[in-house]
Amino acid sequence: MDRREVSFSYNVFANKSAFSEQDQLLLQHASNATGTAYAPYSKFKVGVAIRTSDHQIITGSNQENGSFPIGQCAERVAIYRLTHELGRVPIDSIAILVDNEHQKSPASPCGSCRQILNEYRSFQDKPIRLILGSARSEEIYEIHDVKDLLPFAFDGLFLGL
Ligand code: THU
Repeated sequence: MDRREVSFSYNVFANKSAFSEQDQLLLQHASNATGTAYAPYSKFKVGVAIRTSDHQIITGSNQENGSFPIGQCAERVAIYRLTHELGRVPIDSIAILVDNEHQKSPASPCGSCRQILNEYRSFQDKPIRLILGSARSEEIYEIHDVKDLLPFAFDGLFLGL
């Protein structure tokens, strides 16, 4: 028998002061993007800012609908917008900012968004770092690579891409 193990760790910072100016700017873009969230049902606003390797920034926010299941997460709005506007250029970092009275600390992407971020990651050869924040806390979480959030994942490589 061969036992395989996957472990996961992430960094927790008391505030954003340890982050570079460009990372803080990315967080600010994500925070601004929560202002365009359409979340009248959940009141859970999410803002995302993606920085490409060539330092372009694309943002997105969650968009809900009275027909609940067809609402769209902020991560997906941002990543599809990025692909549409810039093509599938390499991503360096993604800041995700949540704003909801029940969620004091940062929150990580849902399972479906992990799958979509992982698909993007599979076709670039370097990590996509996540910087997670919350409007109700100073704390920042840093995840080295979106791949870490979806171990043993299924992706397009299984289909021969
Ligand atoms: N949401 C996101 O935008 N991203 C996530 O990864 C988790 C959930 C949104 C979807 C919905 O509009 C609201 O947050 C509550 O689930």
